[in-house]
Amino acid sequence: MTAVSPPRLAFDTADPAFVRLPWARYEEIRALGGVVFNERVNRWMVSDFAPAKMILTNTELFGSEKGQAEQAGVFGGPTMEFYDGPHHDRIRAIWSHDFRAKDLAALRPMITDVIRRRLEPVLARLESGETVEIVSELTRGIPTEVIARMLGIESAMVDQFSAWSDAMGASAEGYTNPGARGEALIAAGRQATAELNAYLRDEIGRLRDAPDDEPGLIATMVRHQYARSHMTEQEVVAGNTQLVFAGNETTAKLLAQIVATLAEHPDQRRAVHQDRSLIPAATEEVHRYETITHSVFRDVIADDVAVAGVRIPEGARITLLLGAANRDPQRWERAGEFDVSRPKLSHLGYAFGLHSCLGMNLARLEAQIFLEEFLDALPDWQVHTPIDFGTNYAVRGPANVRVSTS
Ligand code: HEM
Repeated sequence: MTAVSPPRLAFDTADPAFVRLPWARYEEIRALGGVVFNERVNRWMVSDFAPAKMILTNTELFGSEKGQAEQAGVFGGPTMEFYDGPHHDRIRAIWSHDFRAKDLAALRPMITDVIRRRLEPVLARLESGETVEIVSELTRGIPTEVIARMLGIESAMVDQFSAWSDAMGASAEGYTNPGARGEALIAAGRQATAELNAYLRDEIGRLRDAPDDEPGLIATMVRHQYARSHMTEQEVVAGNTQLVFAGNETTAKLLAQIVATLAEHPDQRRAVHQDRSLIPAATEEVHRYETITHSVFRDVIADDVAVAGVRIPEGARITLLLGAANRDPQRWERAGEFDVSRPKLSHLGYAFGLHSCLGMNLARLEAQIFLEEFLDALPDWQVHTPIDFGTNYAVRGPANVRVSTS
Protein backbone atom coordinates (compact mmCIF):
# COMPACT_ATOMS: atom_id res chain seq x y z
CA MET A 1 0.00 0.00 0.00
CA THR A 2 1.35 3.46 -0.87
CA ALA A 3 1.04 5.75 2.03
CA VAL A 4 2.74 8.80 3.45
CA SER A 5 3.84 9.59 7.02
CA PRO A 6 1.41 11.78 8.87
CA PRO A 7 2.11 15.39 9.71
CA ARG A 8 2.60 15.72 13.46
CA LEU A 9 1.09 18.43 15.62
CA ALA A 10 1.02 18.90 19.38
CA PHE A 11 -1.91 20.76 20.91
CA ASP A 12 -3.96 20.52 24.07
CA THR A 13 -7.60 19.67 23.32
CA ALA A 14 -8.67 20.96 26.75
CA ASP A 15 -7.10 24.40 26.25
CA PRO A 16 -10.05 26.83 26.73
CA ALA A 17 -8.81 28.91 23.77
CA PHE A 18 -8.98 25.86 21.50
CA VAL A 19 -12.35 24.75 22.85
CA ARG A 20 -13.81 28.23 22.31
CA LEU A 21 -12.42 28.69 18.81
CA PRO A 22 -11.22 25.39 17.32
CA TRP A 23 -11.83 26.47 13.72
CA ALA A 24 -8.36 27.76 12.79
CA ARG A 25 -6.77 24.57 14.16
CA TYR A 26 -9.24 22.48 12.16
CA GLU A 27 -8.36 24.37 8.97
CA GLU A 28 -4.66 23.84 9.72
CA ILE A 29 -5.28 20.07 9.92
CA ARG A 30 -7.29 20.20 6.69
CA ALA A 31 -4.51 22.09 4.96
CA LEU A 32 -2.06 19.38 6.10
CA GLY A 33 -4.15 16.78 4.25
CA GLY A 34 -6.85 16.07 6.82
CA VAL A 35 -5.02 13.39 8.86
CA VAL A 36 -2.50 14.30 11.58
CA PHE A 37 -0.96 12.73 14.66
CA ASN A 38 -1.43 14.87 17.77
CA GLU A 39 1.54 14.03 19.99
CA ARG A 40 0.18 15.96 22.93
CA VAL A 41 -2.82 13.62 23.37
CA ASN A 42 -1.40 10.60 21.54
CA ARG A 43 -4.24 10.49 19.02
CA TRP A 44 -4.58 10.46 15.29
CA MET A 45 -7.03 13.11 14.11
CA VAL A 46 -9.22 13.26 11.02
CA SER A 47 -10.83 16.53 9.95
CA ASP A 48 -12.72 15.94 6.71
CA PHE A 49 -16.28 14.81 6.10
CA ALA A 50 -15.74 11.94 3.62
CA PRO A 51 -13.00 10.08 5.54
CA ALA A 52 -14.79 10.62 8.86
CA LYS A 53 -18.00 9.14 7.43
CA MET A 54 -16.03 6.27 5.88
CA ILE A 55 -14.48 5.45 9.29
CA LEU A 56 -17.88 5.57 11.01
CA THR A 57 -19.30 3.22 8.39
CA ASN A 58 -16.51 0.66 8.21
CA THR A 59 -16.62 -1.55 11.31
CA GLU A 60 -14.25 -4.12 9.72
CA LEU A 61 -11.36 -1.68 9.91
CA PHE A 62 -12.39 0.69 12.71
CA GLY A 63 -13.87 -0.49 16.00
CA SER A 64 -15.24 0.84 19.27
CA GLU A 65 -14.80 -2.20 21.49
CA LYS A 66 -11.37 -1.33 22.89
CA GLY A 67 -12.97 1.58 24.71
CA GLN A 68 -14.89 -0.76 26.99
CA ALA A 69 -12.47 -0.40 29.90
CA GLU A 70 -12.95 3.37 29.92
CA GLN A 71 -16.63 2.88 29.31
CA ALA A 72 -16.86 0.71 32.39
CA GLY A 73 -15.53 3.72 34.31
CA VAL A 74 -17.93 6.22 32.76
CA PHE A 75 -21.14 4.18 32.87
CA GLY A 76 -20.30 1.42 35.34
CA GLY A 77 -20.27 -1.25 32.63
CA PRO A 78 -20.26 -1.77 28.88
CA THR A 79 -23.07 -0.24 26.82
CA MET A 80 -24.25 -0.54 23.21
CA GLU A 81 -21.83 2.22 22.22
CA PHE A 82 -18.89 -0.09 22.79
CA TYR A 83 -20.06 -3.25 21.07
CA ASP A 84 -19.79 -3.45 17.29
CA GLY A 85 -21.41 -6.84 16.58
CA PRO A 86 -24.91 -8.35 16.85
CA HIS A 87 -25.02 -7.78 20.64
CA HIS A 88 -24.94 -4.04 19.90
CA ASP A 89 -27.83 -4.32 17.45
CA ARG A 90 -29.97 -6.37 19.84
CA ILE A 91 -29.41 -3.97 22.76
CA ARG A 92 -30.11 -0.95 20.55
CA ALA A 93 -33.28 -2.59 19.22
CA ILE A 94 -34.78 -2.66 22.74
CA TRP A 95 -35.36 1.11 22.68
CA SER A 96 -35.14 1.92 18.97
CA HIS A 97 -38.94 2.20 18.54
CA ASP A 98 -39.19 4.62 21.44
CA PHE A 99 -36.79 6.99 19.68
CA ARG A 100 -38.39 6.99 16.21
CA ALA A 101 -39.62 10.42 15.14
CA LYS A 102 -43.19 9.19 14.65
CA ASP A 103 -43.34 7.63 18.13
CA LEU A 104 -41.74 10.67 19.76
CA ALA A 105 -44.39 12.96 18.28
CA ALA A 106 -46.71 11.76 21.06
CA LEU A 107 -44.31 13.33 23.59
CA ARG A 108 -44.70 16.83 22.13
CA PRO A 109 -47.21 17.97 24.81
CA MET A 110 -45.00 16.66 27.65
CA ILE A 111 -41.85 18.29 26.22
CA THR A 112 -43.69 21.58 25.57
CA ASP A 113 -44.93 21.53 29.17
CA VAL A 114 -41.40 20.95 30.54
CA ILE A 115 -40.01 23.81 28.42
CA ARG A 116 -42.83 26.27 29.23
CA ARG A 117 -42.61 25.67 32.96
CA ARG A 118 -38.88 26.29 32.93
CA LEU A 119 -39.10 29.25 30.54
CA GLU A 120 -41.77 31.13 32.49
CA PRO A 121 -39.68 32.31 35.49
CA VAL A 122 -36.76 33.13 33.20
CA LEU A 123 -39.02 35.35 31.08
CA ALA A 124 -40.36 37.14 34.11
CA ARG A 125 -36.79 37.98 35.17
CA LEU A 126 -35.79 39.06 31.65
CA GLU A 127 -38.87 41.27 31.39
CA SER A 128 -37.94 42.99 34.63
CA GLY A 129 -34.58 43.93 33.06
CA GLU A 130 -32.40 41.21 34.61
CA THR A 131 -29.61 39.41 32.80
CA VAL A 132 -30.16 35.65 33.11
CA GLU A 133 -27.59 32.87 32.68
CA ILE A 134 -29.68 30.42 30.70
CA VAL A 135 -27.57 27.25 30.85
CA SER A 136 -27.96 26.80 34.60
CA GLU A 137 -31.36 28.51 34.80
CA LEU A 138 -33.04 26.99 31.77
CA THR A 139 -31.44 24.68 29.23
CA ARG A 140 -29.58 22.34 31.61
CA GLY A 141 -32.73 21.09 33.26
CA ILE A 142 -34.84 20.51 30.14
CA PRO A 143 -33.31 17.32 28.67
CA THR A 144 -32.80 15.79 32.11
CA GLU A 145 -36.45 16.23 33.01
CA VAL A 146 -37.57 14.93 29.61
CA ILE A 147 -35.45 11.77 29.78
CA ALA A 148 -36.35 11.25 33.46
CA ARG A 149 -40.02 11.29 32.49
CA MET A 150 -39.34 8.90 29.61
CA LEU A 151 -37.43 6.54 31.88
CA GLY A 152 -40.26 6.66 34.41
CA ILE A 153 -38.29 8.38 37.18
CA GLU A 154 -39.79 10.69 39.81
CA SER A 155 -39.43 14.44 39.13
CA ALA A 156 -37.85 15.05 42.54
CA MET A 157 -34.72 13.28 41.31
CA VAL A 158 -34.17 15.53 38.28
CA ASP A 159 -31.65 17.95 39.88
CA GLN A 160 -29.69 15.04 41.32
CA PHE A 161 -29.65 13.41 37.86
CA SER A 162 -28.27 16.64 36.35
CA ALA A 163 -25.50 16.78 38.96
CA TRP A 164 -24.49 13.15 38.40
CA SER A 165 -24.58 13.57 34.65
CA ASP A 166 -22.49 16.81 34.76
CA ALA A 167 -19.76 15.13 36.82
CA MET A 168 -19.74 12.16 34.42
CA GLY A 169 -19.48 14.52 31.44
CA ALA A 170 -16.61 16.49 32.96
CA SER A 171 -14.61 13.26 33.36
CA ALA A 172 -14.26 13.03 29.53
CA GLU A 173 -11.57 15.71 29.75
CA GLY A 174 -9.58 13.44 32.07
CA TYR A 175 -9.48 10.66 29.48
CA THR A 176 -8.27 12.89 26.65
CA ASN A 177 -5.93 14.99 28.84
CA PRO A 178 -4.20 12.96 31.54
CA GLY A 179 -2.70 14.84 34.50
CA ALA A 180 -3.61 15.82 38.06
CA ARG A 181 -6.71 17.76 36.99
CA GLY A 182 -7.73 14.93 34.67
CA GLU A 183 -7.40 12.37 37.46
CA ALA A 184 -9.56 14.47 39.80
CA LEU A 185 -12.24 14.80 37.13
CA ILE A 186 -12.18 11.05 36.47
CA ALA A 187 -12.50 10.31 40.21
CA ALA A 188 -15.47 12.68 40.59
CA GLY A 189 -17.08 11.18 37.49
CA ARG A 190 -16.66 7.64 38.83
CA GLN A 191 -18.25 8.62 42.14
CA ALA A 192 -21.25 10.09 40.27
CA THR A 193 -21.51 6.95 38.13
CA ALA A 194 -21.46 4.72 41.22
CA GLU A 195 -24.27 6.72 42.83
CA LEU A 196 -26.39 6.79 39.68
CA ASN A 197 -25.74 3.06 39.13
CA ALA A 198 -26.92 2.34 42.69
CA TYR A 199 -30.10 4.38 42.20
CA LEU A 200 -30.89 2.64 38.92
CA ARG A 201 -30.04 -0.82 40.31
CA ASP A 202 -32.70 -0.31 43.01
CA GLU A 203 -35.18 0.92 40.43
CA ILE A 204 -34.46 -2.06 38.14
CA GLY A 205 -34.90 -4.43 41.08
CA ARG A 206 -38.24 -2.83 41.94
CA LEU A 207 -39.43 -3.10 38.31
CA ARG A 208 -38.56 -6.80 38.07
CA ASP A 209 -41.32 -7.46 40.60
CA ALA A 210 -43.71 -4.78 39.27
CA PRO A 211 -46.79 -5.40 37.08
CA ASP A 212 -46.14 -5.79 33.33
CA ASP A 213 -47.83 -2.53 32.40
CA GLU A 214 -45.39 -0.33 34.37
CA PRO A 215 -44.51 2.56 31.96
CA GLY A 216 -41.09 3.94 31.06
CA LEU A 217 -37.89 3.00 29.27
CA ILE A 218 -36.29 1.27 32.26
CA ALA A 219 -39.30 -1.02 32.50
CA THR A 220 -39.13 -1.64 28.73
CA MET A 221 -35.58 -2.94 29.09
CA VAL A 222 -36.24 -4.89 32.29
CA ARG A 223 -39.17 -6.69 30.62
CA HIS A 224 -37.44 -7.29 27.27
CA GLN A 225 -36.72 -10.91 26.41
CA TYR A 226 -33.22 -10.18 25.06
CA ALA A 227 -32.25 -8.24 28.19
CA ARG A 228 -33.54 -11.05 30.41
CA SER A 229 -31.68 -13.78 28.57
CA HIS A 230 -28.53 -12.14 27.12
CA MET A 231 -27.66 -9.04 29.13
CA THR A 232 -25.89 -9.06 32.47
CA GLU A 233 -27.26 -7.04 35.38
CA GLN A 234 -24.28 -4.72 34.94
CA GLU A 235 -25.15 -4.14 31.27
CA VAL A 236 -28.77 -3.31 32.12
CA VAL A 237 -27.67 -0.83 34.80
CA ALA A 238 -24.98 0.68 32.52
CA GLY A 239 -27.39 0.89 29.57
CA ASN A 240 -29.86 2.95 31.60
CA THR A 241 -27.02 5.02 33.05
CA GLN A 242 -25.90 5.85 29.52
CA LEU A 243 -29.41 6.95 28.60
CA VAL A 244 -29.59 9.34 31.55
CA PHE A 245 -26.24 10.78 30.56
CA ALA A 246 -26.11 10.75 26.76
CA GLY A 247 -28.77 13.34 26.04
CA ASN A 248 -28.25 15.76 28.91
CA GLU A 249 -25.17 17.87 28.48
CA THR A 250 -25.36 17.45 24.69
CA THR A 251 -28.94 18.68 24.29
CA ALA A 252 -28.58 21.39 26.97
CA LYS A 253 -25.59 22.78 25.09
CA LEU A 254 -27.40 22.61 21.76
CA LEU A 255 -30.36 24.59 23.18
CA ALA A 256 -28.03 27.24 24.63
CA GLN A 257 -26.09 27.37 21.37
CA ILE A 258 -29.30 28.02 19.44
CA VAL A 259 -29.99 31.08 21.62
CA ALA A 260 -26.40 32.30 21.24
CA THR A 261 -26.04 31.74 17.49
CA LEU A 262 -29.38 33.35 16.63
CA ALA A 263 -28.47 36.38 18.78
CA GLU A 264 -25.27 36.69 16.74
CA HIS A 265 -27.32 36.60 13.50
CA PRO A 266 -30.33 38.90 14.16
CA ASP A 267 -31.42 39.02 10.50
CA GLN A 268 -31.73 35.26 10.34
CA ARG A 269 -33.44 35.17 13.74
CA ARG A 270 -36.00 37.65 12.39
CA ALA A 271 -36.53 35.45 9.32
CA VAL A 272 -37.15 32.39 11.52
CA HIS A 273 -39.45 34.39 13.80
CA GLN A 274 -41.54 35.41 10.80
CA ASP A 275 -41.50 32.01 9.09
CA ARG A 276 -41.70 29.22 11.64
CA SER A 277 -41.36 26.57 8.94
CA LEU A 278 -37.64 27.48 9.05
CA ILE A 279 -37.28 26.15 12.62
CA PRO A 280 -36.11 22.61 11.75
CA ALA A 281 -33.55 23.97 9.28
CA ALA A 282 -32.40 26.64 11.74
CA THR A 283 -31.80 24.19 14.59
CA GLU A 284 -29.93 21.79 12.25
CA GLU A 285 -27.84 24.63 10.88
CA VAL A 286 -26.85 25.72 14.40
CA HIS A 287 -25.84 22.12 15.02
CA ARG A 288 -23.83 21.85 11.79
CA TYR A 289 -22.19 25.25 12.20
CA GLU A 290 -21.15 24.90 15.85
CA THR A 291 -21.44 21.10 16.40
CA ILE A 292 -21.80 19.76 19.95
CA THR A 293 -19.95 16.42 19.92
CA HIS A 294 -16.64 17.55 18.47
CA SER A 295 -14.86 14.29 19.01
CA VAL A 296 -15.72 10.61 18.76
CA PHE A 297 -13.08 7.92 18.55
CA ARG A 298 -12.48 4.64 16.76
CA ASP A 299 -9.59 2.18 17.03
CA VAL A 300 -7.82 0.74 14.00
CA ILE A 301 -8.53 -3.01 14.22
CA ALA A 302 -6.88 -4.28 10.99
CA ASP A 303 -3.46 -4.28 9.46
CA ASP A 304 -2.49 -2.01 6.59
CA VAL A 305 -5.18 0.63 6.99
CA ALA A 306 -4.92 4.02 5.30
CA VAL A 307 -7.08 7.11 5.73
CA ALA A 308 -6.81 9.78 3.03
CA GLY A 309 -3.56 8.13 1.92
CA VAL A 310 -2.00 8.10 5.38
CA ARG A 311 -1.19 4.69 6.87
CA ILE A 312 -2.42 4.31 10.45
CA PRO A 313 -1.07 1.39 12.48
CA GLU A 314 -3.27 -1.33 13.91
CA GLY A 315 -4.21 -0.51 17.51
CA ALA A 316 -3.99 3.27 16.96
CA ARG A 317 -6.84 5.41 18.21
CA ILE A 318 -8.36 7.96 15.84
CA THR A 319 -10.30 11.04 16.92
CA LEU A 320 -12.90 12.06 14.37
CA LEU A 321 -13.20 15.82 14.55
CA LEU A 322 -16.91 16.09 13.80
CA GLY A 323 -16.92 19.89 14.22
CA ALA A 324 -14.26 20.12 11.51
CA ALA A 325 -16.09 17.62 9.27
CA ASN A 326 -19.24 19.74 9.58
CA ARG A 327 -17.40 22.72 8.08
CA ASP A 328 -15.71 20.81 5.28
CA PRO A 329 -15.73 23.09 2.21
CA GLN A 330 -15.77 20.04 -0.04
CA ARG A 331 -19.28 19.28 1.22
CA TRP A 332 -20.75 22.73 1.97
CA GLU A 333 -20.48 25.97 0.06
CA ARG A 334 -19.44 28.80 2.40
CA ALA A 335 -19.00 26.12 5.06
CA GLY A 336 -17.80 28.62 7.65
CA GLU A 337 -20.94 30.77 7.34
CA PHE A 338 -24.16 30.35 9.29
CA ASP A 339 -27.11 30.23 6.89
CA VAL A 340 -30.51 28.89 7.91
CA SER A 341 -31.65 28.82 4.30
CA ARG A 342 -28.83 26.68 2.89
CA PRO A 343 -29.88 23.53 0.97
CA LYS A 344 -30.59 20.56 3.24
CA LEU A 345 -27.55 18.28 3.54
CA SER A 346 -26.90 15.84 6.36
CA HIS A 347 -24.09 16.62 8.82
CA LEU A 348 -22.16 14.44 11.27
CA GLY A 349 -23.33 16.10 14.50
CA TYR A 350 -25.06 12.86 15.49
CA ALA A 351 -22.27 10.77 13.91
CA PHE A 352 -23.28 8.13 11.34
CA GLY A 353 -23.72 4.40 10.83
CA LEU A 354 -23.97 1.67 13.44
CA HIS A 355 -23.53 3.96 16.45
CA SER A 356 -25.29 7.06 15.11
CA CYS A 357 -27.07 8.80 17.95
CA LEU A 358 -30.03 6.78 19.22
CA GLY A 359 -31.59 9.95 20.63
CA MET A 360 -31.16 12.24 17.61
CA ASN A 361 -34.90 12.55 16.93
CA LEU A 362 -35.54 13.39 20.56
CA ALA A 363 -32.77 16.02 20.57
CA ARG A 364 -34.19 17.48 17.36
CA LEU A 365 -37.72 17.59 18.76
CA GLU A 366 -36.57 19.27 21.98
CA ALA A 367 -34.54 21.82 19.99
CA GLN A 368 -37.45 22.64 17.69
CA ILE A 369 -40.02 23.02 20.47
CA PHE A 370 -37.54 25.05 22.52
CA LEU A 371 -36.90 27.50 19.67
CA GLU A 372 -40.62 27.79 18.89
CA GLU A 373 -41.41 28.61 22.53
CA PHE A 374 -38.43 30.94 22.89
CA LEU A 375 -39.38 32.93 19.79
CA ASP A 376 -43.02 33.13 20.89
CA ALA A 377 -42.01 34.54 24.25
CA LEU A 378 -39.05 36.62 23.20
CA PRO A 379 -38.66 37.76 19.60
CA ASP A 380 -35.58 39.83 20.43
CA TRP A 381 -32.69 39.19 22.83
CA GLN A 382 -28.98 39.85 23.32
CA VAL A 383 -26.26 37.55 24.49
CA HIS A 384 -23.27 38.88 26.46
CA THR A 385 -19.95 38.00 24.83
CA PRO A 386 -17.44 36.44 24.93
CA ILE A 387 -19.14 33.16 25.74
CA ASP A 388 -17.26 30.71 27.97
CA PHE A 389 -17.00 27.29 26.33
CA GLY A 390 -15.17 25.67 29.24
CA THR A 391 -12.60 22.94 28.66
CA ASN A 392 -14.68 20.06 27.31
CA TYR A 393 -14.26 19.79 23.56
CA ALA A 394 -15.71 16.26 23.33
CA VAL A 395 -19.10 17.78 24.21
CA ARG A 396 -18.45 21.36 23.21
CA GLY A 397 -20.97 24.11 23.79
CA PRO A 398 -21.55 27.18 25.90
CA ALA A 399 -20.75 26.61 29.58
CA ASN A 400 -22.91 29.65 30.23
CA VAL A 401 -24.86 32.15 28.17
CA ARG A 402 -25.94 35.46 29.72
CA VAL A 403 -29.08 36.78 28.05
CA SER A 404 -30.85 40.12 28.34
CA THR A 405 -33.53 41.93 26.39
CA SER A 406 -32.21 45.47 26.53
C1 HEM B 1 -27.79 17.45 20.77
C2 HEM B 1 -27.89 16.30 21.42
C3 HEM B 1 -27.06 15.08 21.11
C4 HEM B 1 -25.88 14.96 20.43
C5 HEM B 1 -25.05 16.07 19.80
C6 HEM B 1 -25.53 13.55 20.41
C7 HEM B 1 -24.42 13.04 19.78
C8 HEM B 1 -24.14 11.68 19.66
C9 HEM B 1 -23.07 11.13 18.88
C10 HEM B 1 -22.09 11.95 18.06
C11 HEM B 1 -23.10 9.78 19.02
C12 HEM B 1 -22.19 8.76 18.35
C13 HEM B 1 -21.03 8.34 19.22
C14 HEM B 1 -20.06 7.46 18.48
O1 HEM B 1 -20.23 7.20 17.29
O2 HEM B 1 -19.09 7.02 19.11
C15 HEM B 1 -24.21 9.48 19.90
C16 HEM B 1 -24.56 8.20 20.29
C17 HEM B 1 -25.59 7.95 21.19
N1 HEM B 1 -26.50 8.84 21.69
FE1 HEM B 1 -26.55 10.83 21.33
N2 HEM B 1 -26.47 12.87 21.11
C18 HEM B 1 -27.44 13.74 21.54
C19 HEM B 1 -28.59 13.44 22.23
C20 HEM B 1 -28.93 12.18 22.67
C21 HEM B 1 -30.14 11.86 23.39
C22 HEM B 1 -31.26 12.85 23.71
C23 HEM B 1 -30.07 10.53 23.70
C24 HEM B 1 -31.05 9.67 24.43
C25 HEM B 1 -31.84 10.08 25.36
C26 HEM B 1 -28.85 10.01 23.14
C27 HEM B 1 -28.42 8.70 23.21
C28 HEM B 1 -27.35 8.16 22.52
C29 HEM B 1 -26.98 6.76 22.57
C30 HEM B 1 -27.66 5.67 23.38
C31 HEM B 1 -25.87 6.61 21.71
C32 HEM B 1 -25.12 5.32 21.41
C33 HEM B 1 -25.72 4.70 20.14
C34 HEM B 1 -25.03 3.41 19.71
O3 HEM B 1 -23.91 3.15 20.13
O4 HEM B 1 -25.64 2.65 18.91
N3 HEM B 1 -28.18 11.04 22.53
N4 HEM B 1 -24.84 10.65 20.27
